[in-house]
Amino acid sequence: MARIAYVNGRYRPLAGAAIAIEDRGYQFADGVYEVIKVLGGRARDLDRHLDRLQRSLAALAISPPMSRAALTSVLAEILQRNRLRDALLYIQVTRGTAPRNHVYPKDAKPSLVVTARRPSFPSAKEREEGVGVMTMPDLRWGRCDIKSISLLANVMARQQAAVAGCREAWLIDQAGCVTEGSASNAYIVDHDGCLVTHPLSERILGGITRSVILELARADGIPVVERPFSLAEAQAAREAALSSTSSMLLPVTAIDDRSVGNGHPGTVVRRLLTLYDAHLQ
Ligand code: PDD
Repeated sequence: MARIAYVNGRYRPLAGAAIAIEDRGYQFADGVYEVIKVLGGRARDLDRHLDRLQRSLAALAISPPMSRAALTSVLAEILQRNRLRDALLYIQVTRGTAPRNHVYPKDAKPSLVVTARRPSFPSAKEREEGVGVMTMPDLRWGRCDIKSISLLANVMARQQAAVAGCREAWLIDQAGCVTEGSASNAYIVDHDGCLVTHPLSERILGGITRSVILELARADGIPVVERPFSLAEAQAAREAALSSTSSMLLPVTAIDDRSVGNGHPGTVVRRLLTLYDAHLQ
């Protein structure tokens, strides 16, 4: 069945769907996006995703292309037209089309694209055995809290990790701390059993999965500390993990080919996997 995309008011076969060459997303990466998980026909943590979309748009002074209710209808329609019950929804909003000029155009109409695809969630093996990550310098800009479509530094890092056979790249800032992954948030469990993750700031994307995981941990009595942690600390940690909408939560059992803890997923991360699975029920 041909995939159907929503593009600026119309539903079209994805293969032929197009955006203008002078769309500012194409010219300047002047836009934002969201990725939302759908299971059993239900978009998960939808309000949190739409809140973040609103924050990203506000940060760039792009007006919302439609109301939240209308966008929610488009999401439902795209799922239906693509006959998907489990899916990853992709929403992209750019500032719109205008003659190329760095200054924001006064009258551009934001472009909205929505697509859906069959998800490829982590395998049982990855969940049970964990995954490896490779570290590299965090070369990104100073507003990583905006879910911008400008992802070149993320793409380059992820490519290097993939070539090395690693699931994810962990990005290291100038102080030697792990900020996050190229497309996921990063955690360790320290020797006091605390779940540690970089605090919300302009240095990381505030992941929706991260917000859920931290709430689940706190409600379960797992101590949570939001502070930067160094690569050395991560390599000496008891456990490590990553999270994102599509990866959900995954144990990280190797960093740069060095085992984390005993090289197997630990009790805290395994408990969080159970809690997150329950959250998705
Ligand atoms: N990536 N950090 C970065 C840099 C990300 O790109 C993502 C998500 C996350 C996790 O956020 P969330 O839990 O809201 O998915 C953290 C998406 C899925 C992507 O680019 O496809």
